[in-house]
Amino acid sequence: MSRRLAVLGFGKLGTVISQLATKAGYEVFVAGSGEPEKIALSVSVLAPGAIALPARDAIARADMVILALPLSKHRNLPADALAEKLVIDAMNYWWEVDGHDEQLSNPSTSSSELVQEFLSESRVVKALSHMGYHHLLDEAKAPGSPDRKAIAIAGDDPTDLDKVVQLVDDLGFDPLIIGRLASGRKLEPGQPAFGANVDKENLKQLVA
Ligand SMILES: NC(=O)c1ccc[n+]([C@@H]2O[C@H](COP(=O)([O-])OP(=O)(O)OC[C@H]3O[C@@H](n4cnc5c(N)ncnc54)[C@H](OP(=O)(O)O)[C@@H]3O)[C@@H](O)[C@H]2O)c1
Repeated sequence: MSRRLAVLGFGKLGTVISQLATKAGYEVFVAGSGEPEKIALSVSVLAPGAIALPARDAIARADMVILALPLSKHRNLPADALAEKLVIDAMNYWWEVDGHDEQLSNPSTSSSELVQEFLSESRVVKALSHMGYHHLLDEAKAPGSPDRKAIAIAGDDPTDLDKVVQLVDDLGFDPLIIGRLASGRKLEPGQPAFGANVDKENLKQLVA
């Protein structure tokens, strides 16, 4: 099973995911929007063990890539470098950050399908998007712990879903597959599951 993770975006979410993943024994490669030197010190302090690299190098070294940057910035991603990669889309459309964007706010499609369209050669799975970063940080627990919280996953390929299930479990959460990539719509801002910090049974009800 894959143990090499690239995290694109070292803000609130990317920092917490990098922390959880390094603690879980993953090799973690982190990239921000600029040169790695800009974030190297923060990475070494906030996610010891993770390595700051240029985005293309982080992607090349990883089996799975997590997108933890503002959604509107996905158009700056190096799609060629991400070809053939399993890409985990943790992003949400948030107009205060992303601006008013007609394409991203179009209710006829999920934002993850738009990301998949842009990264046409990658395999996109949506996950780690609905829970606030502070809850991700505070609620990570070993499998079987009482009141373990759940993270929803939406994707099209069963093998990729298996890999993301394993990752979510390793990070400290019960994985819940909710359907194909288009089902990621149920996790977006404004939907009942957005912000959910609940166990698996309750999460099932929120996405029903
Ligand atoms: N915060 C949460 O609780 C939470 C929870 C679930 C999902 N999310 C989603 O996760 C994404 C990130 O949220 P956040 O709260 O972590 O935002 P944030 O704190 O503002 O961090 C975003 C980071 O992305 C970086 N970035 C921008 N363009 C990039 C690029 N092309 N390549 C790599 N990194 C890039 C930014 O770096 P620069 O400053 O250098 O531009 C910044 O460090 C959003 O889509 C959000 O909806 C957030």
